[in-house]
Amino acid sequence: MAASFPFPADAVLRAALSETYRAPEEEVLARLVPQARLADPSAVAARARALVEAVRAAPQRGGVESFLATYGLSTREGIVLMSLAEALLRIPDADIANRLIQDKMGSAEWDKQIGQSDSLFVNASTWALMLTGRLLNDDDSNNLGGFARRLLARGSRPVIREALLQAMRLMGSQFVMGETIESALERADDHDNRRYRHSFDMLGEAARTEEDADRYFAAYADAIAALGKAAAGRDLQDVPGISVKLSALHPRFEHTQEARVLRSLPDRLVALSGLARDAGIGLTVDAEEADRLDLTLDIFAIAATQKSLRGWDGLGLAVQAYQKRARPAIDWLAALAEANNRRLLIRLVKGAYWDSEIKRSQEGGFRDYPVFTRKVGTDVSYLASARALLAAGERLIYPQFATHNAYTLAAVLQLACARRSLEFQRLHGMGEALYTAVLDSDPTLRCRVYAPVGEHRDLLPYLVRRLLENGANTSFVHKVVDPDEPIDALVADPVAKVEATGARRNRAIPLPRDLYGDRPNARGMDSSEPAVRAEIEAALTRSDAPLAEAHPIVGGEVRGGSAQPVTNPANRNQTVGTVVLAGPRDVEDALASAHAFAPAWDATPVATRAAVLDRLADLMEGDMPNLMALAIREAGKTWGDAVSEVREAVDYCRYYANRARADFAAPI
Ligand code: FAD
Ligand code: 2OP
Repeated sequence: MAASFPFPADAVLRAALSETYRAPEEEVLARLVPQARLADPSAVAARARALVEAVRAAPQRGGVESFLATYGLSTREGIVLMSLAEALLRIPDADIANRLIQDKMGSAEWDKQIGQSDSLFVNASTWALMLTGRLLNDDDSNNLGGFARRLLARGSRPVIREALLQAMRLMGSQFVMGETIESALERADDHDNRRYRHSFDMLGEAARTEEDADRYFAAYADAIAALGKAAAGRDLQDVPGISVKLSALHPRFEHTQEARVLRSLPDRLVALSGLARDAGIGLTVDAEEADRLDLTLDIFAIAATQKSLRGWDGLGLAVQAYQKRARPAIDWLAALAEANNRRLLIRLVKGAYWDSEIKRSQEGGFRDYPVFTRKVGTDVSYLASARALLAAGERLIYPQFATHNAYTLAAVLQLACARRSLEFQRLHGMGEALYTAVLDSDPTLRCRVYAPVGEHRDLLPYLVRRLLENGANTSFVHKVVDPDEPIDALVADPVAKVEATGARRNRAIPLPRDLYGDRPNARGMDSSEPAVRAEIEAALTRSDAPLAEAHPIVGGEVRGGSAQPVTNPANRNQTVGTVVLAGPRDVEDALASAHAFAPAWDATPVATRAAVLDRLADLMEGDMPNLMALAIREAGKTWGDAVSEVREAVDYCRYYANRARADFAAPI
């Protein structure tokens, strides 16, 4: 199944999306602020305040929530736990797991937290963590004699490892509705859960092999069949639905594999959508990493334009407000719905991959971030996007507002006025008290719970996102349970905040280029950007590119000799260039030349020498696509490896230029 332009405005609207991908935050935010402004922000704040008060007055929170409130990401202990959670469950090797635990646990000061919480669970866990840390900390000589301590530590390692894994699983269980779709459906019919609709998510993402993808496909298909029975022909908006991750359905769901992905992934989505339609339920495609958005939209458009799926209003997509492209994405989706005369379910979320988006852009040396760097930016984008979803009209979009933030929720209610064809959504294990208060005040409001289903082996990435979300000190869910956090701050209008502070970026998060402070980070090439991809492709396919000629250069002079052809290892019929190999004579001459040149070079000031290295770095950086093309053709490198190779060379030059200036600036 091939991607095609699904409607006339597609190209223009997709270009608008591409333009905002990594556009300067100030520009994007300045455009969004007028669209996010509320008619009566103080009424929203008052409603949100009442909700916060209700959450704070609600009965004692669950153990894991208190635990995460204590061990948030602002504490060293929280970071230890988070990195353990992330690493531990995927380390198959017991010895490495033991060493990781030892390294992490011993470095935190658990005893500081003893008695700080009212929760028995938190205190018991803290004692356990503290004792574990002490037992494992080889440097902690105050507690036990060296030999006894080491013996105990070694003997107890497997027990401690199992206990910690068990603790991680316990944490995970708060966020999972059931191990099977049947048990999850049963739980959804429990007393309090009956107030909600559910969207079941079969745990599993980022398939590594075709077998993984087949397994996840089968799990979705089975779940859809079970949900169809539970739906029993009722209205789409009132029945359970399913959420799917495209990365679960293909082992290489990435833009560099576009052709391969488009050969099979759209078929899989269309097949699952067909099953969902026949079962009478909705199916929503989750939003994943920003560099998958373009491909996601291509695949979604194929499903949305399928004749076989016409007349079914259950196809949906999640849009992440933290992405600068959120607003243009909504324009594109509304146009897609209009052109195909169908209604789409659009779930607006803020986005769960923020930390990794920031890191990936920094590591890749990209020109800017695809996401906002201040939380208020995301909040403003959410409101502007909510307004656009509502403005698109009931015929085209059924909006689903996913949030655990009382202000965001109250603001959407104001934007929606009396409209009722919409729903709110929360994650299982989060936001119960908020939604209890909301539903108590208006039982007619539709609310849906995103309910993960599956086994522990597939839980890890989902769990880490939830731990990050619950532990981050910017998160509403983290702050609302902190009695020291003033309510005024929790219900502040993000638009007013941006207007007061300016639509600027977060000063604590430098642009990827400025990451090192003392030298520019080498420019990267993000091939998920269509314009960048076109640049690389142009360099690779240039028919007028001169063949590369490599010769020995001695004393600045090119030496001749017999030129041997160099061919592309991926296509031996393609000659990349020629090489003249250096012989013993060239080497001797080069040494002599270096000796002759040495006095002049020694007398060259460090600043001049460093400037030469900097100039070389700039030249290589400026010629990046051509150098990459050479590395790809000559050595068969992938695009990713080729860009890293050139960037490494650029970075070396800049690093040593800097070191030279710093270390040898003073006369020796
Ligand atoms: P808030 O505390 O108001 O917002 C927290 C969010 O703000 C963070 O998650 C992040 O997005 C953003 N943020 C935090 N710090 C910064 C910063 N410095 N700069 C910019 N932004 C920042 N997420 C997905 O990615 N894809 C999905 O498909 C998806 N599906 C979901 C479905 C449902 C039903 C729900 C409830 C959530 C889903 N999520 C998904 C997760 C969702 O993104 C998070 O739960 C959400 O971001 C939390 O927002 P909030 O309004 O509840 O909380
Ligand atoms: C996630 O998997 C809920 O889709 C969201 O984090």
